[in-house]
Amino acid sequence: MERLTIQTRPIEGQKPGTSGLRKKTRTFMEPHYLENFVQSIWDGIGGVAGKVLVLGGDGRYFGDRAAQVILRMAAAGGAARVIVGQGALLSTPAASHLIRARGTDGGIILSASHNPGGPDEDFGVKFNTPNGGPAAEDVTGRIYAATRAIEAYHILEAQDVDLSSPGTRDLGDMAVEVVDPVADYAALMEELFDFDAIGDLLAGGFRVVFDAMHAVTGPYATEILERRLGAAPGSVINARPKPDFGGGHPDPNPVWARDLMAAMHGDDPPDFGAASDGDGDRNMIMGPGMYVAPSDSVAVLAANATHAPGYAGGLKGVARSMPTSRALDAVAKARGLDCYETPTGWKFFGNLLDDGRITLCGEESAGTGSDHVREKDGLWAVLLWLNILAGTGKGVPELMADHWREFGRNFYTRHDFEAIETEKAEALMDDLRGRMDGLPGTQAAGRRVEAADEFAYTDPVDGSVAERQGIRLYLEGGGRIVLRLSGTGTQGATLRVYLEDRSDDPATFGRDVQDALADVARAAHELARIEHHTGRTEPDVRA
Ligand code: G1P
Ligand code: ZN
Repeated sequence: MERLTIQTRPIEGQKPGTSGLRKKTRTFMEPHYLENFVQSIWDGIGGVAGKVLVLGGDGRYFGDRAAQVILRMAAAGGAARVIVGQGALLSTPAASHLIRARGTDGGIILSASHNPGGPDEDFGVKFNTPNGGPAAEDVTGRIYAATRAIEAYHILEAQDVDLSSPGTRDLGDMAVEVVDPVADYAALMEELFDFDAIGDLLAGGFRVVFDAMHAVTGPYATEILERRLGAAPGSVINARPKPDFGGGHPDPNPVWARDLMAAMHGDDPPDFGAASDGDGDRNMIMGPGMYVAPSDSVAVLAANATHAPGYAGGLKGVARSMPTSRALDAVAKARGLDCYETPTGWKFFGNLLDDGRITLCGEESAGTGSDHVREKDGLWAVLLWLNILAGTGKGVPELMADHWREFGRNFYTRHDFEAIETEKAEALMDDLRGRMDGLPGTQAAGRRVEAADEFAYTDPVDGSVAERQGIRLYLEGGGRIVLRLSGTGTQGATLRVYLEDRSDDPATFGRDVQDALADVARAAHELARIEHHTGRTEPDVRA
């Protein structure tokens, strides 16, 4: 087998975003595109000679091809071993777990998360560090710098490695260890949760439905929910991963998780419904006829986690991304827990978890997780919910009602304005930034602005600073508007407008969320001059 050195030159736009490098699949398939980025990862982490890496992805189109290229490049770089999920599959949390459990030097995850897959859709490559978490800014910065300076990459000339069954194969001097993608992860879940209690709940007639959305969690959920916990066969729907996710968006929200919504809003709905996304790190939770907002979900999990054996000793602290509602803060305050506010993106939780400052964390974008791995974890959230329902003997609606009665309710929604011209979106943010200091004391849609700032974060562990992480407008009475531009989009800019309002009055708890936030939404439009800058009056997505 020959080690080839291929001359190349920097390709524009290979700057990792909120979660690795995400581009159109066809862009990744262009000559040298993937190779340049992978070589830049190697260069950014000081080479791969002698290292052990994990590799896998969500099964989307091009993932199997990309895996073979990465294996040949790892071999050319002198890596000792790559641990690959069978069929190049690994959910993001399972990859994080493997990186940690096997004491490796990190890993590469091939996924564009909840974005659609296929030749005309999206693909992504993300590097995770030895702690199992997404590379922090200093590492992604070095990778990006390497993409700007690259002159050549190295790749072995070799046949495809057989990834179809477990076992260890040679690729030049490197070992390729193909592992069952589910086994280690399922064992970890058995350590954290009371499988007997959940099993008893299910045996007692409590019905669940889990929508894998034709994505990576299918095999995980089938093994754990149906085989190990005894949920009725067929409880996991859309269970077979497909390269194009069956043509859908593998995004667990009320818009895209159609089959789950139909089941949970139908006649005789199951007691509990859930879905996960393309790569298995997001979750959506439902009760009969009821959607649980992710910001509420993380608060409920924090308030009740001690029902699960893995958290029986209590929580060290909690964290949420800044735009996530402050429902979690209410729990932390009542329970005397530290509560950190971080920028958007899971990577910012890494240091807090590594340093033992927090046990549990979450984001409004359907991400929840804990210190068991260094990624958010969809199935983990589902199992913790089930463990809590088993432990409390309550159903989802009852648990939510009790939660709001104890902690108050933070009404919350996110309005997304997609595919805006980048200059217009930036002009909106610049304009608002410029007027921000003059806003406190003014009124919009009948709401008085109390304070306004732009979120900057100083990591309490390593002192690193992340600036311009979103503009926050605080309204009198506990309302809040946050505006920021997405860092994961692949087309133009997406303006995210996060709306929140607080109520302690039980008579309001049953209100429709969009109705309850209508005045906050109007205030956001006025204050940020959304129509003036973008021409839009309505969001594309209300999440
Ligand atoms: C989005 C979510 C963010 C999440 C990220 C990766 O990022 O908002 O919470 O961590 O996807 O899943 P954004 O597009 O807003 O930058
Ligand atoms: Zn994801």
